[in-house]
Order: sequence, then structure tokens, then C-alpha cells
Amino acid sequence: MFRLPVLLLLLVCLGASPCYGFLAKAHKRQPTASSPSVPEYWFEQRLNHFSGADTRVWQQRYFMNDTYRQSGGPVFLMIGGEGPANPAWMTSGAWLTYAEKLGALCLMLEHRFYGKSHPTQDISTDNLHYLSSQQALADIAHFQTVMKEKLGLADSKWVVFGGSYPGSLSAWYRMKYPHLAHMAVASSAPVKVQVNFSEYLEVVQLALSLNHSDCPEAIKMASEEVSKLLVLSSFQKLTDDFRLCELLQINSWMDTAYLLDTLAENIMNVVQYNKDNREFEGVKDTSITIQVVCDIMANKSLGTPYYRYANVIRTILEVNGEKCMDASYKKFIQDMRNITWASVSLGGRQWMYQTCTEFGFFQSTDSAAQPFSGIPLSYHVQQCSDIFGPEYNLSMVTDSVQQTNEYYGGLDIKGSRIIFPNGLIDPWHRLGINADLSGDLIAIQMEGAAHCANMYPARLEDPPSVPSARQYIFQLLTKWLNT
Ligand SMILES: *[C@@H]1O[C@H](CO)[C@@H](O)[C@H](O)[C@H]1NC(C)=O
Ligand SMILES: *[C@@H]1O[C@H](CO)[C@@H](O)[C@H](O)[C@H]1NC(C)=O
Ligand SMILES: *[C@@H]1O[C@H](CO)[C@@H](O)[C@H](O)[C@H]1NC(C)=O
Ligand SMILES: *[C@@H]1O[C@H](CO)[C@@H](O)[C@H](O)[C@H]1NC(C)=O
Ligand SMILES: *[C@@H]1O[C@H](CO)[C@@H](O)[C@H](O)[C@H]1NC(C)=O
Ligand SMILES: *[C@@H]1O[C@H](CO)[C@@H](O)[C@H](O)[C@H]1NC(C)=O
Repeated sequence: MFRLPVLLLLLVCLGASPCYGFLAKAHKRQPTASSPSVPEYWFEQRLNHFSGADTRVWQQRYFMNDTYRQSGGPVFLMIGGEGPANPAWMTSGAWLTYAEKLGALCLMLEHRFYGKSHPTQDISTDNLHYLSSQQALADIAHFQTVMKEKLGLADSKWVVFGGSYPGSLSAWYRMKYPHLAHMAVASSAPVKVQVNFSEYLEVVQLALSLNHSDCPEAIKMASEEVSKLLVLSSFQKLTDDFRLCELLQINSWMDTAYLLDTLAENIMNVVQYNKDNREFEGVKDTSITIQVVCDIMANKSLGTPYYRYANVIRTILEVNGEKCMDASYKKFIQDMRNITWASVSLGGRQWMYQTCTEFGFFQSTDSAAQPFSGIPLSYHVQQCSDIFGPEYNLSMVTDSVQQTNEYYGGLDIKGSRIIFPNGLIDPWHRLGINADLSGDLIAIQMEGAAHCANMYPARLEDPPSVPSARQYIFQLLTKWLNT
């Protein structure tokens, strides 16, 4: 899932489709999802599921792998999220190992308004009114109903999978469409939505302290030094030290917050995906872990914490093959206002719309127990107004987020046969289900693991909690598919 700013182009969450994770900058760093050997398919979908009189339709992209399909076997549906659906998931990932053992047909449906699934001519704010989790769930229901018929799957049980926002969608789909979904595996799913997600950075602080206990303090000192240099208008120095793409210009408090956020997001991204086995998705910076960051932050030969922080940022840029870091709020807003499908924000505008109108999830520095400074909630909400218009203000965002919790129930999920795996160093687990709610609403906590860790292909370096989570998920799949 995402946060918006920085690398804007960076956008939202790095990573590919089943698990984005909402980091704005990360969007920019999205791997290019191309896997020519996996064919694309198209499905005719209604624009508006909630008005029978509206007959407009569009083409939604999906992928299929029937290699393991056995007659009478289940159907596995991977739900797409806030970015292009990455076909790499059709040939890799834990779900395919379950499919092989259980004889499942595998499908992945791209989320409306992301990737190549374009319901409207452009992404003007008026058109984005058709972008919502409720419409997305109705897309899935219609897709399932038609595909069942088309592929002769009348007797098959359907299992929905997803990670991060699509993890929430999978739980919500099982809850709202229990006659269609037999069970859901809702990995790293923030099922409670919240405007002011200040707990995010508390988990970042905790995770940073695990290997080097003084790492958060060093980052705090560095962020404070950056703030001080901003007050002193040392723009050339900041531009050079952090390799900014153009000379830093500060004309408003939003410019300042944007720079601080852009820097912080680099660290958030490292923590959120620490050691996740994401290389198969085309992610470049998997070698940058909490330990790499904190080793640099502890290296006195690099100078004061400020210079070590600058070194961390430059190291991350280099690993991603980026020449410089974009820290211009003005440019960010320009890109986010671009309503063409080809816009460089790669889904960032669409995700921003969903955060402003459904979820919030704004990672503020409003908690005392975190190492960054200068990124208040008001900065995030101001972005909603700057991008979509003045009516997208705090009261609108707050009301919308409350409606979302009223509709889905927040942490008070009612239902059955849903699994909630969460990594404990993943900041998103703070909005997820962390204890069993009943005998078949099961929480799986993974010690030392990051965002969506259980979904990635297995490897030896996985913390032991991850293979045991995968095994437990498989056990529950086997058991529940027989009920
Ligand atoms: C399905 O997945 C298997 C295992 O990764 C792979 O060998 C096969 O090529 C895939 N088929 C399609 C159509 O993607
Ligand atoms: C940090 O992690 C590395 C690699 O896992 C380990 O070798 C080292 O002992 C850890 N250091 C501390 C202080 O925990
Ligand atoms: C500290 O940084 C210096 C300069 O980059 C490097 O040569 C040295 O290996 C680093 N020390 C540690 C302990 O990582
Ligand atoms: C929007 O983005 C496209 C693709 O990057 C670009 O060609 C176009 O000029 C942009 N439009 C505006 C108004 O910035
Ligand atoms: C955000 O939440 C934190 C922690 O609960 C709280 O201290 C802070 O005041 C909140 N910020 C706003 C603007 O409500
Ligand atoms: C938000 O905008 C609405 C009008 O769209 C206005 O009535 C309301 O007072 C505004 N709230 C705040 C907190 O500015």
C-alpha cells in the first residue's frame, strides 16, 4: 500500500500487483510488468454496478494458469490492487505451490483503473467516481459468475487471495459475497481504515531498532539536522548531499514537508519490504535491508548522522538505477493532476483518490514514538485538496473513512473461513487482524517478517515464521476446501 509523495514517480507502493503497499514513491519504482509468455485476457465489465440503468461497459484484464487444474478442483483468484497486475505472479509465488498440490485453476484479475484496465476515457476526477473498493468487489463477483459458466466451473470452490489492499479486498469479498467465495487468504490486510495512521512510523522505529538499537536515534538526529538546514535555507547543500534532481526551492510549508516525506519514504519502504523475496517481480532494491540502512547509520567514518542519512539515500538511489531524487512538490502535484492514462504517476493519482475518498492511511509523524519529523496529517490531507479540489478537505476525508469502516466493519469482521497472515515488522499489521476472531477467522503472526512475506516464493533466508505460515495456510486450505 501506498503513501504518496516522493519519488513520485515513485509512487505508491512498490512492488507489483498482489502486494503494493501504498508507498507513494514506490509507485515510481514499480517494476515494469512484462512477461511476454503469459497471455492477457479481457473481460467485459460494467462501469457502474450500482445503477441498472447505466449500461456502459469496459474491458478488464485478467490472467490465467490452468497448468495445475484438475477436474473438480478449486479455483484460486488473485485479486489485483493499486497498480498494474504483474504476470510474474502467474508463474511464481506461494499460491502456485498450493495450486499444484490441490489441482487449482489460477486466475488473476486486475483492479479497475490500474494497469491496462481502463473503464473510462481518462482519469478525470469525475471519472474516478467509479473507482472504489465496492465497485471492485462487484467486478470480482460478476467476473466469477460469468467465468464459472464459461469455463465449466459450476462445482468448484473459489478461494480468493490478495496482499495489502487486495488482502483487505479478499476478506471483504468473502464477507460480502459468501455465496461466491468459499474462503479468503487476506495477507497483510489493513481491514481497519484510518485517516491518521501515525502507528505506521511507530512500527518503523521498532523495526529499525531490532538490529542496531541506536539506529532510530541516529535517524532522528539526521532528520532534525535536515530540518535545521531547511530553516537556514541551505538549499544548495541539501540538493548536493541528497542528490536532488533540481535545486531545492522552498516556497511553502508543503514544499518542506514534501522533502522530509520523500526522504523518510525511502526508509519506510526498506522496512515495509525488508527481506521480502520480491526479485521475481522485477524489484531492484531488494538488497537494501534494515541492516544495510542501520549499518550505514552506525558508521562513524561517514561523518555525523546527517551525512550517514545522505549516504543511505544515495545508496538507495544507486541500487534503483536512479540518477537523482525528485523533491519538488510542485512537480509532484503537476503529475498527480495529470488525467491521462499515460501519466507518469503509474496509478499514484488513482490510489491517492482512493485514500482521500475511502481509506486515509496517511502516515503522519504525529506520534512521539517515531524517528522522523515534519510530516503532519495536515500535509497529507492538503494533498487531497491540491490534487482533487478544495472540497476534498479533512472533514470530507474523515467522513468517507468512517463510512468505509461502517460498511466493512473495521476490525470487527463477521464471517468465516478467512486467514489473516501479518508480518510483525510490517507497519500495516497495526490495522490488521492480529488474533483469532473465531475458530475459522484465523490470524497468523509472522515474527521478524515484513509486508506480504508469506506470498513470495520460498527461499532459505526466510525467517522461520514465514515457512510455518505458508504451511499453516496450506493446512487450512486443505481442511476448509473439504467442508
Ligand atoms: C503456470 O505455472 C507454471 C509453474 O510456474 C509454469 O510452468 C507455466 O508456464 C504456467 N503457465 C502459464 C500459462 O502461465
Ligand atoms: C544484525 O543482523 C546480523 C545478520 O542477521 C547479525 O549477524 C548481527 O549479529 C545482528 N546484530 C545485532 C546487534 O543484533
Ligand atoms: C564505513 O564506511 C566506510 C566508507 O564508505 C567503509 O569503507 C567501511 O567499510 C564502513 N564500515 C563498516 C563497518 O561498514
Ligand atoms: C500528462 O502526462 C503525459 C504522459 O507523460 C504527457 O504527455 C502530458 O503532457 C501530461 N499532461 C500534462 C497536462 O502535464
Ligand atoms: C494522530 O494520532 C496521534 C496518535 O494517536 C495523535 O497524537 C495525533 O494528535 C493525531 N493527529 C491528529 C491531527 O489528529
Ligand atoms: C470542507 O469543505 C466543505 C465544503 O465542501 C465545507 O462545508 C467544510 O466546512 C470544509 N471543512 C473544513 C474542515 O474545512
